[in-house]
Amino acid sequence: MTSDFITFGAPQIQEAEISEVEACLRSGWLGTGPRVAQFEKDFALYKGLAHTQAAALNSCTAALHVGMVAANLEPGSEVVTTPLTFCATANAIIHAGLTPVLADVDPVTQCIDPAAIEAAITPRTSAILPVHFAGRPCDMDRIMQIADRHGLMVIEDCAHAIETEYRGRKAGTFGDIGCFSFYSTKNVATGEGGMIISSDDALIARAKVLALHGMSKDAWHRFGDVGYRHYQVVDIGFKYNMMDLQAAIGLHQLERVDANWTRRQHIWQQYMAAFADLPVGLPAPVEQDTRHGYHLFTPLIAPDAEGPTRDDALELMHRHGIGVGVHYLSLPEHPVYQQRFGWRPEQWPNAERIGRQTISLPISPKLVDSDIARVIAAFRSLFQHRAPAAATG
Ligand SMILES: Cc1ncc(COP(=O)(O)O)c(C=O)c1O
Repeated sequence: MTSDFITFGAPQIQEAEISEVEACLRSGWLGTGPRVAQFEKDFALYKGLAHTQAAALNSCTAALHVGMVAANLEPGSEVVTTPLTFCATANAIIHAGLTPVLADVDPVTQCIDPAAIEAAITPRTSAILPVHFAGRPCDMDRIMQIADRHGLMVIEDCAHAIETEYRGRKAGTFGDIGCFSFYSTKNVATGEGGMIISSDDALIARAKVLALHGMSKDAWHRFGDVGYRHYQVVDIGFKYNMMDLQAAIGLHQLERVDANWTRRQHIWQQYMAAFADLPVGLPAPVEQDTRHGYHLFTPLIAPDAEGPTRDDALELMHRHGIGVGVHYLSLPEHPVYQQRFGWRPEQWPNAERIGRQTISLPISPKLVDSDIARVIAAFRSLFQHRAPAAATG
């Protein structure tokens, strides 16, 4: 890989994070402790919640899993979710002893379609799990109406949606549970990391216990400077706690969350203007009275358009020294779900089509203006040569 390769989703790490990690290392306390507590407080404040309503974990996958276990959903019951998501969404449902049921996405917003949710509900449905795709909010008014009418829980997968708002309200605060990711490519990055939020303090308290083996006291409260305290194991838990080393990074990432959002909005707008004349499907305009998280920029390349195929475009961008991604091949494209649930991609045609046409271009706040210019020039050039990848290079 050349030194000027633009890595897809590279996090923006600054001196503040580096100094805080160093201070954490020098403090001798690396595991769950005061920095995690501060990060939870800061994140809760960002979401307009109390400190008792947020728990930092080691991933969004953990947040989804532990959230559904803590919610005491009927074992084996059905959770309606989107086929256009990362496998972790469905896997967490399965690990929680529940059954994923897919509802297709809206072809324009690429978020789960409320009408499809309604059609997927059965007497065994216990929850809806929408994903605010790419940072665009789902239609939460309609989703909450459906949930209320059928008495269903709502678990929001906000892995792309830290800054996302819908009608003045922040993503993750509509449903019973909101789950966030701080994976390296995310809008707030801690390497690996996640957060679960809820307005239900008791649910968060249970999630915290479940996230640390089911123990009644975490290590900070056993070994901290107030003297040893006994713990009791009160639940069959997991090992999902966040470390202070991770929170040290997150504290400063969160301080810059809005500045970085503004930078990504700028990149997004540059791409929209630069690609307006290309034969690609650009993301739909941001809906009124919403705030898009601008996590992913995902144009669509139709197979019959003038230009490369999507897969050729992935290869050609790489040859230009630009890392790209695919978010996502729809879940039913993967063999494990076909084998376990009998899913076929064509059952959810919108997600199938988007998954086969989509390409994610870099949109990290780390990109400098010359990087943005390179991405634009490279992507535009794919449509000037109109040659398949195999015939070039
Ligand atoms: C939509 C979605 N849900 C869940 C996850 C899982 O997040 P994590 O890697 O923090 O477990 C991701 C991560 O990429 C994601 O994109």
